[in-house]
Amino acid sequence: MRLIADNGDVVAARAGVRLEVTRIAVRDLARDRGLPAGTWTFTDDAASVVAAEDVDLVVEVMGPIEPAGELILDSLRRGKPVVTANKALLAAKGAALFAAAEDAGLDLLFEAAVGGGIPLIRPLRESLAGDRIGRALGIVNGTTNYILTRMTEAGSTFADALAEAQALGFAEADPTADVEGFDAAAKAAIIASIAFGADVRDADVHREGITGISAADISSADELGYIVKLLAIVEEREGRIGARVHPTMVPVHHPLASVRESFNAIFIEGEATGEVMLYGRGAGGFPTASAVLGDVIDAAKNLRSGSRGATIGTLTRREILPIDDVRSRYYLEVEAADRPGVLAAVADTFGRHGVSIESMAQRGIGEGARLIFVTHAAREADLRATVEDLRSTEVVQRVGSVIRVLGADA
Ligand SMILES: NC(=O)c1ccc[n+]([C@@H]2O[C@H](COP(=O)([O-])OP(=O)(O)OC[C@H]3O[C@@H](n4cnc5c(N)ncnc54)[C@H](OP(=O)(O)O)[C@@H]3O)[C@@H](O)[C@H]2O)c1
Repeated sequence: MRLIADNGDVVAARAGVRLEVTRIAVRDLARDRGLPAGTWTFTDDAASVVAAEDVDLVVEVMGPIEPAGELILDSLRRGKPVVTANKALLAAKGAALFAAAEDAGLDLLFEAAVGGGIPLIRPLRESLAGDRIGRALGIVNGTTNYILTRMTEAGSTFADALAEAQALGFAEADPTADVEGFDAAAKAAIIASIAFGADVRDADVHREGITGISAADISSADELGYIVKLLAIVEEREGRIGARVHPTMVPVHHPLASVRESFNAIFIEGEATGEVMLYGRGAGGFPTASAVLGDVIDAAKNLRSGSRGATIGTLTRREILPIDDVRSRYYLEVEAADRPGVLAAVADTFGRHGVSIESMAQRGIGEGARLIFVTHAAREADLRATVEDLRSTEVVQRVGSVIRVLGADA
């Protein structure tokens, strides 16, 4: 509302009509929203907003799944285009909603759902429509990026960095959705759906959060020239679609390594375009509102001219690349006995599972010394079998952290 009020003339010039907010649904009618006086009325009956005669276009920013999904379908049935920021809904039921928009011949726009204020959806679905995307890597959750930045730059523990993020308002009182990777997984599903034109849902995304990352992992990564980030990775491999979210060691010279604090970025690898990175504020009131308003202007223009923008079309289910078949490089920490023949025994275990070692370093000496391995690209299932075997190898006392390492193609 503030953006529409502050930028009213610019918005009217761009949309070709003056936008007017007529009705706003909220849960709590008693709460003072601190809004400037306007032409709108508040209601706690969201369905009445969708049905109202003086509503031509519906903006859904209520989250999470229902009744938001039913309200969007109702809007489309009534001939009203919809703008939504609802990532959880699109990651669960996007294909059905896009199909309903297609049938109705109306816009269903969602720029704010992934990457907040970063223009991402439009570039993916329009500017890069002529290219084939092999892989997209995203830092799509500001809370976890802030926590990992503090752990990297201030040497904080996970608990301290989380408490700091909560004090600054970057993390919720219950941080589960962020730190366990659920939020990033929903965004990964949407990015994969748009990048590959497929019906990819949050349940298809392999998800690991950052709660297991320790200060020691961060400093070990630093010594090897990596920065730990929570990455959402979507890729198309031999016709199958992979989507995963997990902590990843990113080479310090990779553009994603410089994405600090609560910023987000998406790094897209197009066959023809090469590498493209989109960077900015992934959340927050004004960045999100700007993305929503951009969609509203687009939908209003289209409504006025009786057309609609680029559609998502029909998203079909495609074969999902299981995590066992994903190829990645890995960092492994192994504590082994300090005696002759140990290295050969450990190397032999890797070799038996077809996992080849790129580098090995020793931290400390004598009992308690750790061996740090970085592997070449290997299948996840083979790496997991190697770790199980190492755990039952007599000379190995402990296998510590196992963290994926970002490589050029794995
Ligand atoms: N916050 C961000 O930075 C951000 C960024 C990108 C996308 N999003 C997406 O935007 C959506 C909203 O997120 P948010 O953080 O703004 O949440 P929020 O602060 O809880 O806002 C939701 C709003 O919807 C109203 N509402 C919820 N359920 C309702 C119902 N059944 N009937 C009527 N009104 C209802 C709430 O009313 P009350 O105020 O009375 O409770 C509130 O005003 C989510 O889908 C989220 O994923 C948010």
